[in-house]
Amino acid sequence: MAEFRLPKNSRITKGREHARESGQKLKTFKIYRYDPDTGANPRYDTYTIDLEKTGPMVLDALIRIKNEIDPTLTFRRSCREGICGSCSMNMDGRNGLACTTAINDIKGTVKITPLPHMEVVKDLVPDLTHAYAQYASIQPWLKSATPQPSGKERAQSPEDRAKLDGLYECILCFCCTTSCPSYWWNGGKFLGPAILLQAYRWLADSRDEMTGERLDQLEDPYRLYRCHTIMNCANVCPKGLNPAKAIAETKKMIAERAA
Ligand code: SF4
Ligand code: SF4
Ligand code: FES
Repeated sequence: MAEFRLPKNSRITKGREHARESGQKLKTFKIYRYDPDTGANPRYDTYTIDLEKTGPMVLDALIRIKNEIDPTLTFRRSCREGICGSCSMNMDGRNGLACTTAINDIKGTVKITPLPHMEVVKDLVPDLTHAYAQYASIQPWLKSATPQPSGKERAQSPEDRAKLDGLYECILCFCCTTSCPSYWWNGGKFLGPAILLQAYRWLADSRDEMTGERLDQLEDPYRLYRCHTIMNCANVCPKGLNPAKAIAETKKMIAERAA
């Protein structure tokens, strides 16, 4: 049987144990640290903090650690309320948003790593360059040959507008894409659940007139058909969306136009 070993400089080494806080409600966080610019191996640093002095969410703990214990810890965040999608990471083995994941919902030590199978810019910050290029490739904007009526919006019935529910709420956090085994192995060419959900958002929009061209672009053994309905994406989405269903609807549209 073939045996693979990780290159030496990618093996995770023992990290630093930072001074423990004292208090009644202590919680330990084990956090992935990696700075590719230094050439040093990745490591897990340990921080034990008092939850009496910390807000309830994992992001509150990260912000306290950065502000009061270790300013070198690097992570992304912005809105702090599950809207911007920037604080996505893996907590206790599950992808999610740090700002909407309660510390109390995680038993024992809280282990935090970046989103899986992405290059790391630093610590908990994944490199989303490729994912954003894939997003640009589906041309995520309304495309119509019909000129917009002067001074008016493009009309859409309430029923047609409702078809976008479950799609427009996507915050592009990539929790789904980075939990998809097909994307782990074929991410170079497979668009992954986040981008395919976004692609279907435009296919489902009654005002968009480029459905045929959009389906032509998606009809490809890699871009679309690497989804094997494993459903990790739907299980992990912090907004409760179902990318697998959007992918199935897209496959159905392609099948129906060929019939
Ligand atoms: S349903 Fe498709 S996109 Fe979602 S996790 Fe499975 S293979 Fe990936
Ligand atoms: S579908 Fe859900 S998990 Fe995937 S990018 Fe959108 S909000 Fe995030
Ligand atoms: S900080 Fe915006 S989603 Fe968490």
